[in-house]
Amino acid sequence: MKIAIISGSHRNPSQSEKVARHIENTLQAEQPDIQTWLYTLADNPLPLWDQSIWEDNAEWNARLAPLKEQLSSSDGFVIVTPEWHGQVPAGLKNFFLLFGRFELGHKPALIVAVSSADGGAYPVAELRMSSYKNNRICYIPEHVIVRNVEKVLNEKEADNNAGADAYFRERISWALGLLAGYAKAFKPLRENVNIHHEKFGNGM
Ligand SMILES: Cc1cc2nc3c(=O)[nH]c(=O)nc-3n(C[C@H](O)[C@H](O)[C@H](O)COP(=O)(O)O)c2cc1C
Repeated sequence: MKIAIISGSHRNPSQSEKVARHIENTLQAEQPDIQTWLYTLADNPLPLWDQSIWEDNAEWNARLAPLKEQLSSSDGFVIVTPEWHGQVPAGLKNFFLLFGRFELGHKPALIVAVSSADGGAYPVAELRMSSYKNNRICYIPEHVIVRNVEKVLNEKEADNNAGADAYFRERISWALGLLAGYAKAFKPLRENVNIHHEKFGNGM
């Protein structure tokens, strides 16, 4: 079993990556049978989608192959996204243009939104509404919104608001346990059901 964690902020460093690293550490400590792979969009490692991707461009194939291998061998995902002007960052939307049903399809995913204040609901709504149609990623009903993120999940205890920090650590741990359960339950589903239809490559 493998869970891939995608950190959706282009900033370097970013609070989203801090949260993503906490999630990776939590999975490693609490779910020893689960392997993890963290991929960060810090500094925009992926160029914007262009038409040559659909024309078997060698450069794109070489760039995407190692990432496709990591994603297609994953059984579930954690999508960490900051709220930027009420939206998901463009680099994360680009990620969903570059990877599709063969990497993400019919695999559970936990959304973790991040806000420096009391935002974070818009990117959850955006991902749930518009990022799954063709790739068929399955967002689980539980999500996490890490509000006032600068005050939680820091390595130095003194930097944390103790009550909020404890709350988010417990809530993230529980949500990851749920995700692990979905990932285990969905694996046989993908093996036993015809999830890739010749005619219906895209969702409606
Ligand atoms: C371009 C930009 C726009 C932002 N817009 C919002 C916003 O609409 N709502 C919000 O709660 N925070 C907003 N923030 C603040 C982020 O919540 C904050 O930067 C937080 O640390 C998460 O982003 P990060 O992962 O890039 O650090 C914005 C930050 C940036 C860089």
